[in-house]
Amino acid sequence: MERYLWCRELWNRCLAACPACDAVMEGRRHTASVSAIAGGLARLRGEDEELARIAGLLHDLWAVETGIRKEHAHRGAERARELLESACSAGKTQKQSGGACCSVMGAGKEATQEELVAEENTVSFTKEEVDEICAAIYFHSDKHLVHGPQAEILKDADLLDRFLDCPDYDPGSKSTERLARLRAELGDLQLAARRLVQD
Ligand SMILES: [Fe+2]
Repeated sequence: MERYLWCRELWNRCLAACPACDAVMEGRRHTASVSAIAGGLARLRGEDEELARIAGLLHDLWAVETGIRKEHAHRGAERARELLESACSAGKTQKQSGGACCSVMGAGKEATQEELVAEENTVSFTKEEVDEICAAIYFHSDKHLVHGPQAEILKDADLLDRFLDCPDYDPGSKSTERLARLRAELGDLQLAARRLVQD
């Protein structure tokens, strides 16, 4: 889980640069929760738990940083790629990092990512792993469609988090088939979400 911890530190630093408002607090709670649920689902389904946790952590980061929901899945995938590729090219990145951590929040934040890369230059992701995480984030709003295993884990975890506080949560008709599949797999969704987030 070394790479997850690296991403968690980066995620923390990005959020720390955001305004301390309710929306950012909720974004922090939601993404941490989705990350935990996604990890549990990955274990259940025999998929890569670390990649699932990282996708969960980063999936709404762009939206939290900018406060923009429109196209947030697609823009969030670009943001995640930028961050993950900084890990892939650690070392070189110290000289090259242009679009760096929290750059959307304004000038002066770029050093954050450079410092982290300099401190933690041992983590790396393959191109396939970065593609898998970013594809999961890119497709995560398409709850009515079925994509690859990691995308499905992220979509399900994103949905399950909404059941933590609200057993009667209604995500709308777009997610009807997904909910039926999840109930068949996990039973009561609130209990499942609570169990998965604690595991
Ligand atoms: Fe989300």
